[in-house]
Amino acid sequence: MSIEDMPHSGDRPTREISVTVNGEEVTREVEPRLKLSDFLRNECDLQGVRVGCEHGVCGACTVSLDGDTVKSCLLYAVQAEGLAVETVEGLADDGQLHPVQEAFHEEHALQCGFCTSGFVMATKSLLEENPDPDRDEVKEGLADNICRCTGYQNIYRAVDRAADKLDAVETDGGADDTATDGGER
Ligand code: FES
Ligand code: FES
Repeated sequence: MSIEDMPHSGDRPTREISVTVNGEEVTREVEPRLKLSDFLRNECDLQGVRVGCEHGVCGACTVSLDGDTVKSCLLYAVQAEGLAVETVEGLADDGQLHPVQEAFHEEHALQCGFCTSGFVMATKSLLEENPDPDRDEVKEGLADNICRCTGYQNIYRAVDRAADKLDAVETDGGADDTATDGGER
């Protein structure tokens, strides 16, 4: 077979999918082998979905799929057909950061930031299931996410602070009197 006769990408089968991404329906023609992480990054331009290991180990690609926390590198985009995906880009509300994002900012819970969106999504999910986790529960809840450069202590403090913020929202509808100096509590 000459190189001209070899199949090229234009010959590969595709399938139309419609996925609700951060509240907006996205319809695309995709190859069945396209990973959900690559779909979000390249077709939806959501670069907050990070791709680290592509093997389900690092958690950088963590998103919410119909309310379940998933590693988007372990799913094909076609598996999200008809479902709702939320990425870190969907958390801020009209320019106002989500309390988990605020807490990560205030506790300086990042250095390079590569892992941060995955940690934020995992933290949001953890606190939805367990609004007041102790330190061991926080460690267990974030065990699927790897950070290479923070030493984790500020991340754990950010989760504590996020829990306080979300509790304040629950209790009084939004007043947040948590300190913003990033100090150890
Ligand atoms: S890129 Fe998906 S878990 Fe690492
Ligand atoms: S902040 Fe650098 S890998 Fe986590």
